[in-house]
Amino acid sequence: MIALLNDIEIGYDDGGSGLTTLLFIHGFPHDRTLWTPQLQGLTVHARCLAADLRGFGETTAAPPYSMDQYADDLVGLLDVLHVDRAVVAGLSMGGYAAFALWRRHPRRVRALVLCNTRPGADTDEGREKRRNLMAVAHERGAGAVADAQLTGMLGKTTRANRPEITNTVHRMIASQRVEGITGALQAMMDRPDSTPLLSTIDVPALIVAGDEDAIMPMAEAKAMQAAIRGSTLEVISGTGHLSNLERPAAFNHVVSEFLAKLTLE
Ligand code: MLT
Repeated sequence: MIALLNDIEIGYDDGGSGLTTLLFIHGFPHDRTLWTPQLQGLTVHARCLAADLRGFGETTAAPPYSMDQYADDLVGLLDVLHVDRAVVAGLSMGGYAAFALWRRHPRRVRALVLCNTRPGADTDEGREKRRNLMAVAHERGAGAVADAQLTGMLGKTTRANRPEITNTVHRMIASQRVEGITGALQAMMDRPDSTPLLSTIDVPALIVAGDEDAIMPMAEAKAMQAAIRGSTLEVISGTGHLSNLERPAAFNHVVSEFLAKLTLE
């Protein structure tokens, strides 16, 4: 589906119904199809929205982008769909956008699901790697970005046993526009440190990690759990950076349990 916001058209999926709305935010360099297993498996528990961030999938806005802009777009989508508050679930870069959404629009957040993400800003070394990836994107296109990113994206168990997932992720990355990829890299380089924000989170928070995630080490997830009062950490074993795609049933189970507790509050 396409929603018309102020200056852009935003691609999104909307499935299920219920008192709770889940808003899914994809990572880098993905699009909303990252959340297909959740749109299939969680719509019995909640209304599920998944949107393409600026520059990805069907949201074809030109850069520059920022985490704040991504967050404002998502709130714009909630407005268009008359959703007052949502459980905001972001994976990796989607988590960075979820932090921005919490910073700018806390009243719209019913709860947070922070998947395979970290609060910190980029280090100098991290920024250098992003500049290199920008050059790859400009010179050799999105297919080369997919080649470069794939190994880190998936856990070793998935890479060894699930070629269909490897192919899906490669296809998803290779189909993105170069300007979406480079614009998101710049937005991630420019994002602020959200670590000080963690102590302000006073809504329920679920942290999801993969024990084979080479991009977000377990120590990051544990530190985040210690810093967010009352939060829960769930580790999806045998998964890497894309825990929701690598073991969807296990991921959906922990999210549905979290939702069940929310409705009891
Ligand atoms: C992602 O999956 O969104 C990226 O790994 C985030 C990042 O590069 O920092």
